[in-house]
Amino acid sequence: AVADPVDLDLEGLHVVVSAGGTREPLDPVRFLGNRSSGKQGVAIARAAALRGARVTIVAAHLDTDVAAAAGALSGVEVVPVGTAAELADATERHSAAADVVVMAAAVADYRPASISESKIKKDDTGDALTLVLERTPDVLAGLAAAAVPGRTVVGFAAETAPDRDALLDLGRAKMARKGADLLVLNAVGWTAGFGADANSTIVIGRDGDVVAEASGSKDTVAHALLDTIITLRSH
Ligand code: CTP
Ligand code: CA
Repeated sequence: AVADPVDLDLEGLHVVVSAGGTREPLDPVRFLGNRSSGKQGVAIARAAALRGARVTIVAAHLDTDVAAAAGALSGVEVVPVGTAAELADATERHSAAADVVVMAAAVADYRPASISESKIKKDDTGDALTLVLERTPDVLAGLAAAAVPGRTVVGFAAETAPDRDALLDLGRAKMARKGADLLVLNAVGWTAGFGADANSTIVIGRDGDVVAEASGSKDTVAHALLDTIITLRSH
C-alpha cells in the first residue's frame, strides 16, 4: 500500500475539481450521457483536502458510491450539476478566485438543439429518428484563455489511442487547441478507464513536453498530479 503524503502542502489554496459526466436531456425521460463514474475527480478532491486545500467539487452525476464518498469528505463542498451548461456556470463561478482548477469531468460536447416538452413517441418519428445537436461551451478552453494570474488550470484527455505515441500525439494536439497549464492524458476503451479503480496517466505541459507519468490507484494518480501542480506553481 502507498502511504498518503501527510504534508499540508496545499494549505491556504482553493482547489476546484469538476467530476463525473454531464447529461443532456432529450425529453422529460431521456438524456445523452457518458460513462464517467467521477472516481478520478473525487480522488483528486480527497487528496487535495488531505493536503490542506479548501476544495469544491462540481459534481455531475457521480456514481452512487462515488457521490457518497464525496459527501463524506470534510472540508469539501459538493456542488451538484446536471448539464454541460450548468457545469460551465458552476465551474466558472467557483473558479473565479480559485488557485487550482482541475477539469476531470466528462463534459458533453453536444446537446440536443431543442428539448421536447413531452416524451418523444415512436409513432411521431417513424423508423428512424434524426437528432439535431449543437455544441456546448468548452469550459477548459475558456478557463485557459482567461489566463488568470496565479490560477493553475488542469485538463484531462481521455483518448482511444492504440499506443503511447498515438496518445501523446492526440494529447499534444488537444493541448495546442485548448491551452491548459497541464493536460492529463489517459487511454480509454470499452473496458479501460471509465469506472475502473486504477488509472495510467501521462501529464504534459503547455508546450507538449511530458512532465510526469503516474500509474496505480486513482488515489495514487491524484497525489502524483497534485505533486506536479505544486512543482509547476513553484516555478
Ligand atoms: N471539457 C470542457 N468543456 C467541454 C468539453 C470538454 O471543459 N465542453 C474539458 C474536459 O473536462 C477535459 C478536457 O476538456 O478536461 C478535454 O476533454 P475532451 O473531451 O478530451 O476534449 P475535447 O476538446 O472535447 O475533444 P474531443 O472530445 O473531440 O476529443
Ligand atoms: Ca469531448
